[in-house]
Amino acid sequence: MQNIYNVKSVEESWAVAAEVVKLLKPGTVMALHGDLGAGKTTFMQGIAIALHLERPVTSPTFTLSNEYNAAQFKLVHMDLYRLTSPDDLLAIGYAEHIENGAVVAVEWPERAEDLIPADAIHIYLEQGDEMEDRRIIVEQP
Ligand SMILES: Nc1ncnc2c1ncn2[C@@H]1O[C@H](COP(=O)(O)OP(=O)(O)OP(=O)(O)O)[C@@H](O)[C@H]1O
Ligand SMILES: [Mg+2]
Repeated sequence: MQNIYNVKSVEESWAVAAEVVKLLKPGTVMALHGDLGAGKTTFMQGIAIALHLERPVTSPTFTLSNEYNAAQFKLVHMDLYRLTSPDDLLAIGYAEHIENGAVVAVEWPERAEDLIPADAIHIYLEQGDEMEDRRIIVEQP
């Protein structure tokens, strides 16, 4: 399945995130692709709103990983921008999170490509012409 959305505001990106939430199941990995500032973390804020999380999502750029408890599953939000080796991802419990039924969202998945499962949901965020324009591509095998 591939869906392409052309959005014109953060709120419209959050509406796409609300659609993606319907695809999430325990153990799902969601790979968030896009340049610096493309809107990966902002998209995750939309995921959090749709999941009715109490705590707002903040960027895990420095912590590498943030965890949230949704009613349906644990949400783990990772940012691999600063990852030096895929082994470091395993060291912080990536595989266990998936095994234990968390939904694991990964910014900069290219840093650990071999660890992204074949059935992952891929989200591609691209800047459009105007400041708040984004093209969001949602792919699921
Ligand atoms: N339609 C939109 N969707 C998402 N973000 C948008 C949109 N329009 C404007 N923005 C803004 O773009 C910025 C995106 O920053 P964000 O931190 O989400 O990017 P990121 O892809 O996570 O970057 P990084 O790789 O540095 O973590 C935010 O300031 C957000 O408000
Ligand atoms: Mg980010």
